Amino acid sequence: MNAKDILSLIHPAIAVAFVFPIVGIVVNFALQTRQRRLHPNESKKIPPVVGREHLKYGRWLTGSVVGVTLIALAYSIFIKQPFFTGKPPFQMGFIIAMFVFTIAALVLLYRTRPNQPLWRAVFATLSSAGLIVLGCQDGVFRRTSEWYLSHYYFGIVVSILMVVSLTIVPEIYKHQRWRVTHTVLNTLAALLFLGQAMTGARDLLEIPLSWQAPFLYQCDWQNRVCPEPQSSQPVEGHVAKAPRF
Ligand code: HEM
Ligand code: HEM
Repeated sequence: MNAKDILSLIHPAIAVAFVFPIVGIVVNFALQTRQRRLHPNESKKIPPVVGREHLKYGRWLTGSVVGVTLIALAYSIFIKQPFFTGKPPFQMGFIIAMFVFTIAALVLLYRTRPNQPLWRAVFATLSSAGLIVLGCQDGVFRRTSEWYLSHYYFGIVVSILMVVSLTIVPEIYKHQRWRVTHTVLNTLAALLFLGQAMTGARDLLEIPLSWQAPFLYQCDWQNRVCPEPQSSQPVEGHVAKAPRF
């Protein structure tokens, strides 16, 4: 493995070691919070702090999911392909500025107060828009033709759902309607996290190591055949990997 291959592992490793354990903690506290609220008499063993704990780890989850998405995008944009050659300086400056703005908008969203709904909405919109704009850059593999199985689209949607959760915390406490909205949206988020685990593992399997890439990209992707080494004859049944660029 060369440096580029090793760098490609940062984001999956952080997701597996940090993000998914936090997802488990947050979902566990979510179920207990709901159980305690709906059946107060039968759930005397559930401590009253579960709602607070869900919120505490939920705040960590938002930051870590957006963080892991930004790391994945940064790898695709800056490292997977040459970034500092052949691009106009304006485009390079714009992309770097977008990373800074997106992180700044999220930090400001964390710092807003419950009585500032407008600012919460503004910073949530800005940080989500930042993720979308960065996702549109060259180098990001979006799998748009198969969007319903795309690690990229699931990742962006789940990141935005986490930003929305953080934004509406005061409303969840105030109105039942928002509590239900939060539960519905984040049940979807939990499924998307499962999807991220599956599509991410699939993508790792499909992407060749740098030294293997030149050989694999000689393959015929449509018919899934590769040339035999030292022979130009394609061999039936030799399954090729899909092109990544
Ligand atoms: C996979 C992620 C998540 C799931 C599945 C989830 C699900 C839930 C569920 C089922 C409830 C209880 C609703 C009820 O009482 O019926 C809840 C409450 C709540 N959630 Fe989440 N949630 C998630 C992430 C988050 C995040 C990221 C935040 C904030 C940053 C958050 C903030 C809250 C708050 C403030 C409550 C109310 C807690 C209380 O009653 O004390 N949640 N959530
Ligand atoms: C919460 C969890 C995760 C989120 C939010 C997430 C998000 C993303 C996003 C937004 C991208 C950008 C797509 C691109 O630039 O090509 C990406 C790329 C990638 N992710 Fe994840 N990811 C998560 C977990 C994982 C896991 C667990 C793995 C592997 C085990 C993984 C493997 C990959 C790979 C290999 C790529 C590069 C895809 C490519 O270039 O085709 N991810 N991820």
